[in-house]
Amino acid sequence: MTAPLRASDPIVVNVALGERSYDILIGRGQLASLGQKIAVLRPGAKVAIVTDETVMRHHLAAAEAALATAGIVAATSVSVPAGESSKSFPVLERVCEALVAARVERADLVVALGGGVIGDLAGFAAAILRRGLDYVQVPTTLLAQVDSSVGGKTAIDSSHGKNLIGAFHQPVLVLADTALLDTLPPRQFRAGYAEVAKYGLIGDAAFFAWLEANWRDMFAGGPAREHAIAVSCRMKAAIVSRDERETGERALLNLGHTFGHALEAAAGFSDRLLHGEAISLGMALAFRFSALRGLMPMTEAERVERHLAAVGLPTDIRSVPGDAPGSDHLMDLIAQDKKVKRGRLTFILARGIGASFIAPDIDAADVRAFLAQQLAE
Ligand SMILES: NC(=O)c1ccc[n+]([C@@H]2O[C@H](COP(=O)([O-])OP(=O)(O)OC[C@H]3O[C@@H](n4cnc5c(N)ncnc54)[C@H](O)[C@@H]3O)[C@@H](O)[C@H]2O)c1
Ligand SMILES: [Zn+2]
Repeated sequence: MTAPLRASDPIVVNVALGERSYDILIGRGQLASLGQKIAVLRPGAKVAIVTDETVMRHHLAAAEAALATAGIVAATSVSVPAGESSKSFPVLERVCEALVAARVERADLVVALGGGVIGDLAGFAAAILRRGLDYVQVPTTLLAQVDSSVGGKTAIDSSHGKNLIGAFHQPVLVLADTALLDTLPPRQFRAGYAEVAKYGLIGDAAFFAWLEANWRDMFAGGPAREHAIAVSCRMKAAIVSRDERETGERALLNLGHTFGHALEAAAGFSDRLLHGEAISLGMALAFRFSALRGLMPMTEAERVERHLAAVGLPTDIRSVPGDAPGSDHLMDLIAQDKKVKRGRLTFILARGIGASFIAPDIDAADVRAFLAQQLAE
């Protein structure tokens, strides 16, 4: 077990990518050290903060104060509307113009202070401004602390789909202050937790068992929170350092995401179904589908569902508010997302908890029949 941490005592996880390597610092109260960390990393750099209006209200003053204690004055702080709609060309343009107007130059730093939306938007702005500025991730949602702030994928959305316009651009530092999650609405925290459970399901059965025993302390903000975030980041960092551009193993991180994305799209990417909720459903489906194919006993899939349900995440497609999508509609959405090649598609399946694998040759007809059955039961 992780011992209680002092603010000065972060857990450090390194993302090993040669000259683009960086640290993830995890701990309660870490935001206070932001200025000091930046002063060491980029002495003399100007800093521009990008955030959203909700995070601005809760945490911008503390971030600016943390810079000021190290003698860094934020050149500008840009805030955009909260929510996915900010991953758009008009908002990207506004952010870029504001940073240029504030004379943010090549040697300066962008700080992304927010959830995955801000990380993706500010990271992409940093990737293209002056042909590439360095940036620091200060993730403020659980999803961002365990997933989106690590690994360098940045993007905005196209009218044709999510995350279609973007770049790989690794941050130079990720500073995950777990106390920032205290202001996160419980539903958002739960949704982020689906990605934490995902790491156990992908490759760490002992971690999954630990989560079953310790999730309450993690939700309550006890030391289990830092430990769970660190284990999650360690697994993502290891996978990213072996397969930065997702030519192989990184696809494992998509466990539950093929079903999940289709369900999110069917719900219109709305508050009806948050991303993490869709991933919870998707992981439950992926495990049930794997069990039905004889890869593991059904009791193993039921254990996954029991844990997700215990934390308050959905595990039954029919529990999503509004009209249930039909299996044909879901298959169309899966085909758009994944490109079905000659009736076959790549899926992340599992031989048990902690034993997920890439199955490159799944018959789309099997998936369709499975979904029809799940929707009918
Ligand atoms: N780049 C990647 O590798 C990657 C991976 C996963 C997801 N993503 C992207 O991440 C996005 C989702 O991220 P998200 O779930 O963090 O959403 P988000 O950034 O929209 O944050 C969710 C909500 O919580 C609010 N919020 C954030 N921090 C808060 C805090 N500390 N206190 C109170 N409210 C707070 C936000 O204002 C927002 O309303 C999606 O756009 C997705 O595509 C990217
Ligand atoms: Zn996800």
